[in-house]
Amino acid sequence: MEVVILENEDAVAELGAQRIFELVKKKPNAVLGLATGSTPIAMYKKIISFYESKVVSFGDIVTFNLDEYIGITADNSQSYRYFMNRELFDAIDIEQQNTHLPVCGAGENPREIGAAYEQSIVDAGGIDLQILGIGSNGHIGFNEPGCSLSSRTRVKTLTQSTVRDNNHLFGPNECQPHLAMTMGIATILDSRRTILLATGSQKAAAVRHAIEGSISSGCPATALQMHERVTFILDEAAASSLENKSYYRWAHHQNRSLVEQFGNFHEVVEPDSY
Ligand code: PGA
Repeated sequence: MEVVILENEDAVAELGAQRIFELVKKKPNAVLGLATGSTPIAMYKKIISFYESKVVSFGDIVTFNLDEYIGITADNSQSYRYFMNRELFDAIDIEQQNTHLPVCGAGENPREIGAAYEQSIVDAGGIDLQILGIGSNGHIGFNEPGCSLSSRTRVKTLTQSTVRDNNHLFGPNECQPHLAMTMGIATILDSRRTILLATGSQKAAAVRHAIEGSISSGCPATALQMHERVTFILDEAAASSLENKSYYRWAHHQNRSLVEQFGNFHEVVEPDSY
């Protein structure tokens, strides 16, 4: 596991965008796993800046989002399709048909939708880099506490705490969904590389549990401890409850020395990672 602690939210967004940018430059037809929520918005803005300075094209990039609400349609401003179009896709040269979300429309069978989503990921060659946020209850995607750690894309009922955390995003006359399709934990663990972004003190307890706690479905993000190439990019507030903070800073410093000596750390250490 790589744990990177940075001074603020802007630095977290910058490093996340930089990692995506490096991948897209190296593999222009990479498969990205993307996340919604408030955390990645600043990173998406940085990616748009890279794109606008014409240093990178997303023309051959394929994306799979982690999750989508059930019961609202793509044209609803609360849908994750709408969010992704607004925050990223409409501002870059990505092809809409290459962008995927696990959408389960009215009358469709969620089991079939989940199985088809898994198959599309396999058919695309697997996810090269999965971006994640983390819920204050330790969820990743909408894999809520108590979920199977070997789960695949399926329907999940949101916990009361998730509904509460997201309640401020819904207006008084808007219906807040309590069901979602989400990639499973096993789907996430299949990605070749994963980056979890977390900012703010409201994430500190979940981050501590995810990185330093015992692996348990009670905190689904602990499953990432079994991922071979996972990076946690945290601001100071989100990292504030970690016990081994000084070690993570030291290890990150060492990794940067490796980059200076040998070039790109990830190429040096993991030549076949993409
Ligand atoms: P947030 O959500 O980025 O809005 O905090 C993260 C998550 O619930 O995964």
